[in-house]
Amino acid sequence: MTDIRILVGSVYGGALMTARAIKHTLEAEGYAVLVLENPVLDDITADTSPLLVCTSTTGQGEVPANLLPFYAALRDQLPQQPGRPFGVIVLGDSSYGDTFCGAGELMEEALYETAARKVGETLCIDALETLDPEDEALPWVREWVSAVFPQE
Ligand SMILES: Cc1cc2nc3c(=O)[nH]c(=O)nc-3n(C[C@H](O)[C@H](O)[C@H](O)COP(=O)(O)O)c2cc1C
Repeated sequence: MTDIRILVGSVYGGALMTARAIKHTLEAEGYAVLVLENPVLDDITADTSPLLVCTSTTGQGEVPANLLPFYAALRDQLPQQPGRPFGVIVLGDSSYGDTFCGAGELMEEALYETAARKVGETLCIDALETLDPEDEALPWVREWVSAVFPQE
């Protein structure tokens, strides 16, 4: 039984390291966390656990290649997930201007189309301002789990 599934999109490893740090932190608090480095649609349709997107942005506001097949399948098939909680952590770089953190918006839009329910505000981590994404991600994720699992 998994409590949280993390959908990772990463080119250079920053988002992946962040996802692994989140897993480490949350497992110490008793949650079961699955980090999906190459997610496929079956990974989310097979169960109903809350989803955490942890992706960087590449190209011109695009989803990294390892997450792209999942994103495309999600957009294509729109498996309905009514009310399923999800959160979004996105790494980007504000020097990219209009496409800043665009991958997070793409994932959010696609998940909204499945009727999933976003919990919390998207955490957008700017590489220009933050050297270590975990510094922002770990406090954010503690808030996020307490909103997703309010009784715990
Ligand atoms: C080729 C390239 C394209 C990028 N395009 C964008 C972009 O469009 N928007 C954005 O916010 N960040 C963009 N970035 C910045 C990355 O998202 C950022 O450096 C992130 O921390 C990388 O995380 P990763 O190590 O998980 O790949 C780009 C970086 C590279 C190298």
